[in-house]
Amino acid sequence: MYYIGVDLGTSSVKLLLMDEKGEIKNVVSKEYDLFFPKTGWSEQKPEDWWSQTVVGIKELVSVVDASLVKGISFGGQMHGLVILDENDNVLRPAILWNDGRTQSECDYLNIEIGREKISKYTANMALTGFTAPKLLWVKKNEPEIFDKIAKIMLPKDYIAYKLSGVHCTDVSDASGMLLFDVEHKCWSDEMIEIVGIKKEQLAQIFESYEVVGTILPEVAAELGLSDEVKIIAGAGDNAAGAVGTGTLENGMCSVSLGTSGTVFISTDKFAVDDANAMHSFAHANGKYHFLGCMLSAASSNKWWMDDIIGTKDYAAEQKGITEIGKNNVYYLPYLMGERTPHNNPNARGCFLGLSMDTKREDMTLAVMEGVTYALRDALEIARSFGVEITRIRAIGGGAKSPLWCKVLANIMNVKVDKINCEEGPGYGAAILAAVGCGEYASVEEAAAKLIRVVDTIEQDPAIVKEYEKRYQVFRNIYPALVPVYDQMVEVANN
Ligand code: XUL
Repeated sequence: MYYIGVDLGTSSVKLLLMDEKGEIKNVVSKEYDLFFPKTGWSEQKPEDWWSQTVVGIKELVSVVDASLVKGISFGGQMHGLVILDENDNVLRPAILWNDGRTQSECDYLNIEIGREKISKYTANMALTGFTAPKLLWVKKNEPEIFDKIAKIMLPKDYIAYKLSGVHCTDVSDASGMLLFDVEHKCWSDEMIEIVGIKKEQLAQIFESYEVVGTILPEVAAELGLSDEVKIIAGAGDNAAGAVGTGTLENGMCSVSLGTSGTVFISTDKFAVDDANAMHSFAHANGKYHFLGCMLSAASSNKWWMDDIIGTKDYAAEQKGITEIGKNNVYYLPYLMGERTPHNNPNARGCFLGLSMDTKREDMTLAVMEGVTYALRDALEIARSFGVEITRIRAIGGGAKSPLWCKVLANIMNVKVDKINCEEGPGYGAAILAAVGCGEYASVEEAAAKLIRVVDTIEQDPAIVKEYEKRYQVFRNIYPALVPVYDQMVEVANN
C-alpha cells in the first residue's frame, strides 16, 4: 500500500511516496514561477500548481505498482487567496502568504473594527499575509472580479478540489484565513459579514486526517491511479511539517527554515496571547498550536547565493566558514517586509557592520545568522508566555546545512534534534493520508511508530555567550531603522 504526500510550496511542489511502514519510496520536486508584479507583492498561478502536480505524481508513482496507491493528502503554503468563478475558472493569480499589499485593509480590520473584536472572532489579528484582508483588497481594487467569486479556497485546497471535486479545507489551514473561529473550528459569521462574502463561497471544513472524498475517475485515469484513491484534507505546511517531525505533544517545538521561517509550538488546549504576537491556529492532530512566522528565511539564503553571488553550490560556499559566534556583520532578513514580530510590510533587508576587511564568508554567515536571530525573536515571544523550550526539531531546506543547524542551536541556546526523515510537510502529508485511510489509528500513533530522533546538535556555552551579545545588537537595529523605512516608502511613492 502507498500514500502520497503533496507539499505545495512556494518555489516548488514536492511529492513524496510512502509505503504503509512509513518508508519513503520516491520523492519528486517540480518547480513553478513566482511573480512579484510590484515590490512587496507576490503571486502564483494555481494552474501551474496543478499542472506541475500532475506531472510530478505521474513521475512519483512510476517506480511502483501505482494501483496500490490508497490515499493522497497535502501540506500547503498557507493563507494564499485562490478564487474561482461559477465555471471553476481561476479568476486571478493567487495572492500569496508573503504578499504585503494589504496594509490599509489590515488597518481597517485592526483599528476601525478593532483588534480585540477580530481576535475574539478568529483568535488572531489581521496581518497582511492572511486571506481576509486579501479579499477586502480584491473587493476594493478589482470589484468586477470580486463580484464573480463563486469559490474561495487556499492553495492546497485547489489541488484537493481538482483531484476530488470537493470544495474542502482543513482546520489548520483555515485558521490562517482570518475568517475562521479557531476555538470552535467553524467559519466566523461576524468575519463573513465584515468582509462581505457569503458562507456558500467558503469550503467545507475537515480535520486534517479526515477523508474529503474519492479521486475523480477521469483524474485517476490520467494519473494512472485506481479510482478508489481517497483524498484526505491535509494541513497548512507548518502543521503538516509538525506531523512530519512528530511535533505533537504539548509544548513541543519545531523550527522550519523553508522559504518562510517558522517557530511552531504544539498546545493541547486552545489559547490566545493578549497581544496576538503569535498566531493561534488549529493543529493537524485535532489540537492547537502557536506559530511565529518570518517571511524570508531560506529564501534570504537563496537570494544571496543564487541572485547576488551567483552560485548553486551552497555547501561549497559554506565550507570556508570555520568559526561561528564572532561575526560582526549583521543582516536584516526583511526582503518581503516582516510578519513576526514586526508586522511591517515596509521593512526591507540590509547588511550592517561592513568594513574593508569584510569577507564574502562573513556576509554568507551573516545571512544565516540574521534569519536565525529573526526566528529567535519569535522564540522569545513564546518564552515570554512561560513556554520552556529546550529542544527543537529543525526542518526545511536550510536545516539540511550542518552549519546552519549549529548556528541555530547556539543562537537559540537549545538542542537541535535531527529526525530520521527530513521531508517535513511532504512526509507529514503522507502520514495524514495513511491515518485517513485507516492504516494508523491516529496521527499520534503514526508519529510514534515512524519518527525518531537520530542526531542532536548541542550548543557550546562559549559560542552561546558570543551570540547572546550579538543578538542584543540585532534587536536594536530594526527599531533604529523604522523612521528610515517610512522615509524610503515616502520617497518611493513620490
Ligand atoms: C505561515 C506562513 C508560511 C507559509 C509558507 O503563517 O505564512 O509559513 O505557509 O509556505
